[in-house]
Amino acid sequence: MRKKVVAGNWKCNTTLQEGVELAKAVNSVVKEKGANDVVVVLGTPFTHLSKVVENVDTKRIGVSSQNCAAEAKGAFTGEVSAAMVKSTGAEYVILGHSERREYYGETSEILNKKLALTLENSLTPIYCCGEPLEIREAGNQKEYVINQLKETVFKLNADDFGKIIVAYEPIWAIGTGKTATTEQAQEMHKDIRDAIAAQFGQEVANNTSILYGGSCNPKNANELFANPDVDGGLIGGASLKAEDFIQIINAY
Ligand code: 13P
Repeated sequence: MRKKVVAGNWKCNTTLQEGVELAKAVNSVVKEKGANDVVVVLGTPFTHLSKVVENVDTKRIGVSSQNCAAEAKGAFTGEVSAAMVKSTGAEYVILGHSERREYYGETSEILNKKLALTLENSLTPIYCCGEPLEIREAGNQKEYVINQLKETVFKLNADDFGKIIVAYEPIWAIGTGKTATTEQAQEMHKDIRDAIAAQFGQEVANNTSILYGGSCNPKNANELFANPDVDGGLIGGASLKAEDFIQIINAY
């Protein structure tokens, strides 16, 4: 059965010291509550990974990078490889976030290289997809998102696809305070699951965690997570406050 996952994406926020404090605060509460059924992930900047790993109970909390290099190693100044991420003790890599696609020109071709390296290094990709506002307004969101999957993760074999987590993040809902309605989230998550079933079979589809991302907060998490095809969230702004993030974890 698929897992429920609540993952924080800290983006380009927190100094190392602030990040460690935030991780410790989440760790203390998660440990106490023993919320065993929800996988908790902290997506930190590269610079924080190893320290955050040291400061959390890694049996309860997974640590994630927000990206990795498209090359295994070599003369690529400023890049951080999947093997380097793995060597910190992190277990996840967020890939294909809309901010990376938009601001750093990440294409499906680049993402396929990153996916391969992530899987080769036994890291779990949290693969993001989602449509911009104009596509939603034109009613073409399903076609757009399924196409993002077809160009990338649907090219994996079923075994590798079974290792990934999908995150649906409508771009118009990211950081805008405008959340997808519970119906909009459920509809797209169901469309994604149906497309996975058509590609890899119903069992793989049933076992794939599909997270919602986009202005998810302590007030709306409960309603969003109650949808049958929403298996948790990828949380931006609200993951920077331990209290809010914990409330979202406890929304189940
Ligand atoms: P917000 O929760 O700040 O809208 O960000 C969502 C997101 O982009 C998570 O990856």
